[in-house]
Amino acid sequence: MQLFLDTASVNEIRTMWEVGILDGVTTNPTLVAKEGRRFEELLREICALGVPSVSAEVVATDTEGMLSEGRRLREIHPAIYVKVPMTPAGLRATRTLAKEGTRVNMTLVFSANQALLAAKVGAAYVSPFIGRLDDQGQDGMNLVRDIVTIYRNYRFPTRVLVASVRHPVHVLDAAKAGADIATMPFAVMEKLAQHPLTDLGLARFLKDWEKVPKG
Ligand code: E4P
Repeated sequence: MQLFLDTASVNEIRTMWEVGILDGVTTNPTLVAKEGRRFEELLREICALGVPSVSAEVVATDTEGMLSEGRRLREIHPAIYVKVPMTPAGLRATRTLAKEGTRVNMTLVFSANQALLAAKVGAAYVSPFIGRLDDQGQDGMNLVRDIVTIYRNYRFPTRVLVASVRHPVHVLDAAKAGADIATMPFAVMEKLAQHPLTDLGLARFLKDWEKVPKG
């Protein structure tokens, strides 16, 4: 399974890219706004790090506007995936962009039927927002399982990108469900490597090593 960072922070992306566990980045207008920088300049800097997949979202809500923004975004760098919201206008825009060879990440997906439509119009990624469903008292991971089943049943090539991840158990369950990608905040990715028994074990090994005769 691929691991993406859900951030627009160049520092966070650089840190995980250098560790060697990062496969891609997803941004959204909220994350970009936090950085206080011009969107295209920020995207160029992220792409220059060498990350192979960088999702950048359109903010137009009509098909023509989405097409024009999407075409501009994809010209920025070959790593760009254009993020388009799951609306009727977004479906039309995705169909056209996909036919032109642009890779689209259909975002704000909250039902399996929406994911079915995203696959039918040729989206490269579908992004179910599981944390936001959990917040509403629904089981977001059930949605991931349904999408994986549907895509396997019909051999859709659209990849399932689990979004709105809030904690490491979401990542584990997404992997068990057979999702292709999980995108997560920096703090969640950091936690994937951590375990208190690892820290305790290392401290004990180092302490015992002091008793080994040296020289
Ligand atoms: C993914 O592409 C989205 O930007 C993101 O996962 C949304 O997460 P949130 O629900 O924590 O805002």
